[in-house]
Amino acid sequence: MSKKLIAGNWKMNGSLAANEALVRAMLAGIGQPLAEVALCAPAPYLAQLQALLLGSPIAWGSQDVSAHEQGAYTGEISVSMLKDFGCRYAIVGHSERRQYHGETDEIVATKAQRALSAGVTPIVCVGETLAEREANETESVVKRQLAAVIHTVGHCITEIVVAYEPVWAIGTGKTATPEMAQAVHAVLRAQLAAATTNPKRVHILYGGSMNAANAASLLAQPDIDGGLIGGASLKAADFLQIVAAAG
Ligand code: PGA
Repeated sequence: MSKKLIAGNWKMNGSLAANEALVRAMLAGIGQPLAEVALCAPAPYLAQLQALLLGSPIAWGSQDVSAHEQGAYTGEISVSMLKDFGCRYAIVGHSERRQYHGETDEIVATKAQRALSAGVTPIVCVGETLAEREANETESVVKRQLAAVIHTVGHCITEIVVAYEPVWAIGTGKTATPEMAQAVHAVLRAQLAAATTNPKRVHILYGGSMNAANAASLLAQPDIDGGLIGGASLKAADFLQIVAAAG
């Protein structure tokens, strides 16, 4: 495995002033990170991130991308627009989009393919709800979600990033234990191994209340290749500690 990847997901937070202060604090403290680092911002702030981060060790990306190329899709943002603003990554299929915006496995897979077609790396989120975990469906749910992407993108599967985010751990302060997370990551790695000869090339991130205190033990697991960080990516010191733990 190459370097670990720590990606921040700001969700619908921020302002021009708050973002500038946050990013400047991160740049002041980041040095030469041993991990790859990225920040995924609300679309209106991508130009700001491009201006602040160009030439720095921090890449940037969006939190969604349209499944369509262009045209009459009011409110949607195409991958070529993301490219115009230098995005390296696009989160797709976050559970909040699946839950509140009706995104199906097929829509998520099409979005991943659309991102790949323009050279933007999709960070494909998978994960079970609490009810699904309690019904012992964790494995079948995450496999179904990833299978849709494998089916759609074919051999390009090595170009994606996967993020395992148990829905019950997102923003709740309840983190999967390192062992629980590793067990699911191993399932996902095995599924990738059946689809490509190079399954280790794919970063599998953990997300869900990862913070400065628990990052090191999660990142020490053999199949946890980084983190997708929500709340803790809004605090420079916390985010930098997670980046340092990934070194
Ligand atoms: P959290 O969010 O770190 O605030 O739990 C993670 C995510 O939803 O990507």
